[in-house]
Amino acid sequence: MSTLSGKKIVAGICGGIAAYKAANIVSKLAQAGAYVRVILTRAACEFVTPLTFESLSHNKVLTDLWEEPLAHVELAYSADLFVLMPATYNIIGKLAHGIADDLLTTTLAATRAPVLVIPAMESQMYTNPIFQENARKLTELGYRFLEPEAGHLASGREGIGRFPSEEKILKAIEDILTERALLQGHRVLVTAGPTREMLDPMRCITNKSSGKMGYALAEQARHFGADAVCLISGPTQLKPPAGVEYVRVESAEEMRDAVLERFVQYDLILMAAAVADWRPKKVFAQKLKKSSARELTIVLEKTPDILSELGKRKKKDQILVGFAAETEKLLEHAREKLKEKNLDIVVANDITAPGAGPEVETNIVTLLYRDGKSETLPCLPKHEVAKEILRRVAQFL
Ligand code: CTP
Repeated sequence: MSTLSGKKIVAGICGGIAAYKAANIVSKLAQAGAYVRVILTRAACEFVTPLTFESLSHNKVLTDLWEEPLAHVELAYSADLFVLMPATYNIIGKLAHGIADDLLTTTLAATRAPVLVIPAMESQMYTNPIFQENARKLTELGYRFLEPEAGHLASGREGIGRFPSEEKILKAIEDILTERALLQGHRVLVTAGPTREMLDPMRCITNKSSGKMGYALAEQARHFGADAVCLISGPTQLKPPAGVEYVRVESAEEMRDAVLERFVQYDLILMAAAVADWRPKKVFAQKLKKSSARELTIVLEKTPDILSELGKRKKKDQILVGFAAETEKLLEHAREKLKEKNLDIVVANDITAPGAGPEVETNIVTLLYRDGKSETLPCLPKHEVAKEILRRVAQFL
């Protein structure tokens, strides 16, 4: 059975010339067995008629908020996916600013279903910083964007802004629907970032972790349909992903308390945080003065190993994933951690390799499993690495 069969898809058609191409997509979705409801904006009706979409979707097309006053609520709750095609400069501006002044924007405001946004417009509109800022804001809020293609535009000019091909759009729709099912019924706990171990009120021991890998895992776990995602993070510059319970901590001790308090409620635990292994044994209440001594010796003590503790407490139905950031003997050290900490999977990376490590946008990871198998992924952006990790982990659940 196709991924699309029986899925409820709301197609929001806006006023751009590519509206006529969207008709074909609606037709393909309906042919594949999806239940497609179409909303046309007033501007879209200038380009195409409701009758075209009614014939292709075999469903009544909606255009007016006041025609069926509760239609937007029903569609918003029942949809598995919203597809905005073509998404115009205007609708993206409205969405980014919370404007709901017609049927489509009101329905979008009321839905919690994933929204696939497919912009198509003149390249100078697409590259306008206002548009880009709005698109960035929506991406951060969890909206999924399919980038337009470069080529011949309706104006006769060449540039970026063309409506993507039918194959690309159908694949993006199928990918979202498949991903949505992967972690459904599961609850995911993620740790991220460094920890900060204070020496005095001003100084601390920390590390270079940016938190990007852990934040990407939490965000993708939401996209993969997890029932709940909790992100416990040390200090980072990152914004917590939308729809995720966010717990901010400072030290290894605080992270331990936050994790142990919640651990039993989750069945997938991903420990991506770079927890400090050592902390100053004595924490000074006042800022240390440099005039007080010629030399300063700081005695360090071990922090609690959170992951080892979880490995001891873990139940049969919990999957525990550890991360191993290494600078040498990658696989050997990672395998030791897998065994010693009683993990199901270790995600290992050599932080000295080009394209990996805390300060770059990409990562190169090797997954090691309990049965001795391992798999190295290519160098990918961190959110792609997160997807690949979750796809594999989902098979264990
Ligand atoms: N970890 C943890 N608590 C600690 C230290 C590490 O929970 N106090 C977790 C990390 O979140 C990671 C895994 O253990 O998932 C491995 O962390 P890493 O720093 O690579 O290894 P360590 O166990 O600290 O060992 P070493 O520093 O000697 O390599």
